[in-house]
Amino acid sequence: MSATTESLFRGTIADLPARIDVAAQIAPEHYALERERIWRRAWLAIGHTQDLPAKGSYFVYDIPTFSMSLLVVRGQDDRVRVFHNICRHRGNKLERGGAGCKSHFTCNFHGWVFNNDGALRLITDEKEFEDCDKSALGLIPVHSAVWNTMIFINLAEEPHCSLAEWLGDLHGQYDGYFEEREKVAAFKAVVHANWHLAVNAFTEGYHTLYLHKSTARDYQGGRTNPERHRPHIEILERHHRYSAPGNPDKVFVRGEKVAAKYGRLMIPAFDFDSSALPPGVNAARHDKWAFDVVEFFPNLVMLQGNCWQNEITYWPIDAGRTLILNQAWAYKAKNLGERLSRSYFRARVRDVFREDLNTLEAQQAALSTGAMREVVLSRQEMALRHHYKVSARMLGGEL
Ligand code: FES
Ligand SMILES: [Fe+2]
Repeated sequence: MSATTESLFRGTIADLPARIDVAAQIAPEHYALERERIWRRAWLAIGHTQDLPAKGSYFVYDIPTFSMSLLVVRGQDDRVRVFHNICRHRGNKLERGGAGCKSHFTCNFHGWVFNNDGALRLITDEKEFEDCDKSALGLIPVHSAVWNTMIFINLAEEPHCSLAEWLGDLHGQYDGYFEEREKVAAFKAVVHANWHLAVNAFTEGYHTLYLHKSTARDYQGGRTNPERHRPHIEILERHHRYSAPGNPDKVFVRGEKVAAKYGRLMIPAFDFDSSALPPGVNAARHDKWAFDVVEFFPNLVMLQGNCWQNEITYWPIDAGRTLILNQAWAYKAKNLGERLSRSYFRARVRDVFREDLNTLEAQQAALSTGAMREVVLSRQEMALRHHYKVSARMLGGEL
């Protein structure tokens, strides 16, 4: 067997610890601090502008971490705004859930009406209110910003940095990448596991050879890279990303051949020209590239392919439970063949994802006993090592 591929590391890795006291990381008292120092200060991904296709489009986004409901709206002026989903009269939940398109929102309690830019338009029986300034009773805004097509929020009273600063080196490297996509699947799961464990399950490729041996048997690695080392692992200040190695020896099964005939090859796909991709995707321009994994610390892990992305968004419910939202996005299908082809690949990825989820509750239960405090992490798990360093720096107020 040939010598295996060595990973190319970019960024500072010398100080990333190889042993982590995970039992301490998942403790309830630790989570109480994280909630305020990480989750309330970080820029957090909540969706895409494609979820708001027209003026007046909106969706409700509930955040269990803060028992908070948000209303995300595209106004008549085309601007995307995020508000607390709270009626300014007596605090009723303004929209009960879901998504749609409205020029205004009417509270079902006493009928107050708000424009889709948040302004209070109508107070029913207004003359009975004394000293009531309508202009001061608009919906309560949440700090938000759009990067490419991605919508982020910040729940601090005043964000300590801009979204551009938060994203750092990622900021200018994905222009155009998200635009020609449509959502092809979405589901959510509540797992009885701490958010760190849930994020960690999706940011290393070491497990793929074993956990996914049935569902994704030969997508990655191959003769020249039997251990499936990541060809490129990049550690940024808050975030990180790596490329997964496509397997040039992969034998395509019949279903894959048919799906590739009628649509675009999604997973595995490594025999295409990466030069059309923005510089952030397959940043090292590895010639056997399969896809990238990017952690947008703390709440989003994104798998990025040639014509698709899979987004896993995390919201802690408490120290031992996490809400996980999974969304698959792919190229816009032009005909039935492409739709069927996308569906085939989507189903394959779904099965792999379920295997990843299936490890979490057992780890949580085991680590909660305190019988084993530390985990040991390899160089292939460098992203996890970095994740805990970023957490510690945020807890310490450094980031
Ligand atoms: S609580 Fe909304 S109108 Fe009264
Ligand atoms: Fe996996």
